[in-house]
Amino acid sequence: MRYRSAIDADVAAEHAIFCTAVGALHRARNYPWTDPPLAEFAKNRAHIQSTDPERCWAAELDGRLVGYTRAIVRDGTWFFASLFIDPAAQGRGIGRHLFELAVEGAPRRRLTITDSIQPISNALYGTKGLLPVAPLVRLTGRAVDVGTPALERSEATIEDLAKVDRAAYGFERGLDHPYWASRGTRHAWSRDGRLVAWSYRWSNGTIGPLAAVDPQSAAETLLAELALDPVTRIELPATARPLLAAGLEAGLRIDPPMGLLLASHGVQAPTSLAIGTYGLY
Ligand SMILES: CC(C)(COP(=O)(O)OP(=O)(O)OC[C@H]1O[C@@H](n2cnc3c(N)ncnc32)[C@H](O)[C@@H]1OP(=O)(O)O)[C@@H](O)C(=O)NCCC(=O)NCCS
Repeated sequence: MRYRSAIDADVAAEHAIFCTAVGALHRARNYPWTDPPLAEFAKNRAHIQSTDPERCWAAELDGRLVGYTRAIVRDGTWFFASLFIDPAAQGRGIGRHLFELAVEGAPRRRLTITDSIQPISNALYGTKGLLPVAPLVRLTGRAVDVGTPALERSEATIEDLAKVDRAAYGFERGLDHPYWASRGTRHAWSRDGRLVAWSYRWSNGTIGPLAAVDPQSAAETLLAELALDPVTRIELPATARPLLAAGLEAGLRIDPPMGLLLASHGVQAPTSLAIGTYGLY
C-alpha cells in the first residue's frame, strides 16, 4: 500500500472508483443508480483540489489507485467531502487510514454527509466523533400552487452573501460562491429591501445550495424559486422544518434513500439551508 497526495491525473481513476463503489452500494439495496459523467465529476473535484490540495489523498495498491479522499476547510469548519474505496479493496483499513490523513490538523468544528444506507462509513465516522444530527431528504417533481412569492429578486455583494452564509451554515462560503456561480445561476432574495437569502439554480432544474437568514425565509426562497420554474430537485436537512414542509405542501415528492448529516460535538444542525451536493455541502 502507498498513500500519497492526490494529483490532477488521478481524476479518471477516482471517477471509476466512485461509480463502482456507490453503484454497488445502491444496487445491493435495490435503489436505482446512474453514474455521473466524468466531466461533471471532474468539475467538483477540480474545485476542491484547487482550494484544499493538502486535504486530497490517494491510496495505491501495487501501483493502481484503489481509494481516494477529499476534505475542505472553510472559515474554521472542516467538511469531509469524499471517501471511496474500490469494492475489491474494502474492509482492509484503507478507508480508515485515508480519513486519518484528511483530518490531520483539522479544526474542531467538523461535518460530513453520508448515505443512510451505508453502515460502514457511518460507523467509521462515528468512532471519530462525527454523529448524525439530521436526515437529508431529497425532494423531486413538479410543484403546484406555489402562490405569489413573498420575496423579491435583488442584487448582492459577496459581503451580503457572507452574512447569509454565516446565518445558514455557521461559516462563510466565499471560496465556493464563484464555483457555484460557474455551475448554475445565483439568485439573491430580499424582503422589504433587506437581503434574506440566496439560492443557485442548475440548468437541469436542481435548486441548491439555498441559504437563508432564518427558517421561514428559506421556505419562502424555495417557493420563489418554484414560481420561476416548478420542476426541481432539492436536498435539505429535515431540521430545516419550514423548508421541508413548504416543499411537501407544494407537491414535491420524497425520493429515497435519505442521506445523513453528521457533525462533531457542539455543532448545531442547520435550520435554514438546502445543500448543493454531498461532496461540497
Ligand atoms: C465506506 C468505505 C469508504 C470504508 O472504507 P474501507 O476501507 O472499506 O473501511 P475500513 O476497512 O478502513 O474500515 C471499516 C471499519 O468499519 C467497521 N464496520 C464495518 N461494518 C460495520 C458495521 N455495520 N457497524 C460498525 N462498524 C462496521 C469495520 O469493522 C472497520 O472497523 P475497524 O477499522 O475498527 O476494523 C468503503 O467501504 C466504500 O467506499 N464503500 C462504498 C462507497 C461509500 O459508501 N462511501 C462512503 C460514502 S459516505
